[in-house]
Amino acid sequence: MMIKKIGVVGAGQMGNGIAHVCALAGFNVALIDIKQDQLDAALTVMGHNLDRQVARQKISEREKAETLARVQPSMSLEALADCDLVIEAAVEDEQVKRKIFQQICPVLRKDALVATNTSSISVTRLAASTDRPERFMGMHFMNPVPMMQLVELIRGIATEESTFREIRELVVKLGKTPANAEDFPAFIVNRILLPMINEAIYTLYEGVGSVESIDTAMRLGANHPMGPLQLADFIGLDTCLSVMQVLYEGLADSKYRPCPLLVKYVEAGWLGRKTNRGFYDYRGPAPVPTR
Ligand SMILES: NC(=O)c1ccc[n+]([C@@H]2O[C@H](COP(=O)([O-])OP(=O)(O)OC[C@H]3O[C@@H](n4cnc5c(N)ncnc54)[C@H](O)[C@@H]3O)[C@@H](O)[C@H]2O)c1
Repeated sequence: MMIKKIGVVGAGQMGNGIAHVCALAGFNVALIDIKQDQLDAALTVMGHNLDRQVARQKISEREKAETLARVQPSMSLEALADCDLVIEAAVEDEQVKRKIFQQICPVLRKDALVATNTSSISVTRLAASTDRPERFMGMHFMNPVPMMQLVELIRGIATEESTFREIRELVVKLGKTPANAEDFPAFIVNRILLPMINEAIYTLYEGVGSVESIDTAMRLGANHPMGPLQLADFIGLDTCLSVMQVLYEGLADSKYRPCPLLVKYVEAGWLGRKTNRGFYDYRGPAPVPTR
């Protein structure tokens, strides 16, 4: 099957990035969200990000216009009816994702592929909530999608080889590099990255260092491009907490216990950059640590 049209469900920070790279690579894209303001914001962000690529002479003004014209935002699932592949990128909540698959499957063509951008949830379990587990797999893009090279590919127990091959080919067409991971909680990148971020939050919680000293220590002491708390704000603290909960429950090991301070920030609605407040306050001209 030739993939020509791609549906993206969820127009948050990941959904808009996935739509961006798919449209730039020449695919028509149906971008779906339950909130009109998220769709509007996604197109604005995509426009800004394409402007940056024009400024860096990576693409022309014409390519930018053609890319935007290939993205069709919609609040109706009917827009997915003629898609060859749908990539789910809604919130990291298993119940929400299962409900989305139950709603979209009757709309999709029988031979359409379905992928999930989940950061941590079992691909096999999500596949089981669809009518096509053999045509379903994990396609885990990194944030920010237009910049990051990696896509983790995760096969569920029922994923057919042809599904895997088609998705792998697509990743290459998008200009990205695939890495295969087994279907274990949080796969590879987040299995390693999120416990480090959680440990940084414990370090803050126990008063070993301030937000500033923890981030400076890891940037200058471990040569990380971003401090772990800055990175947590960038990922979204709700997503960080969900991944830690999946690791904690899925591997039944107390070393993955989410830090109570992370829970508190999420309960406060301080989710990081996307809500303008997390370990830093982004409402002023420069980020200010909140602890
Ligand atoms: N943030 C990251 O760094 C990162 C990296 C890789 C993968 N992911 C994964 O990508 C997914 C999305 O994360 P995000 O950071 O873009 O979250 P986000 O909060 O920015 O966006 C989620 C979007 O999903 C929409 N949504 C919620 N319910 C929906 C429904 N029923 N139908 C359609 N849309 C719905 C919301 O309105 C919102 O626009 C999650 O599974 C997350 O784990 C995130």
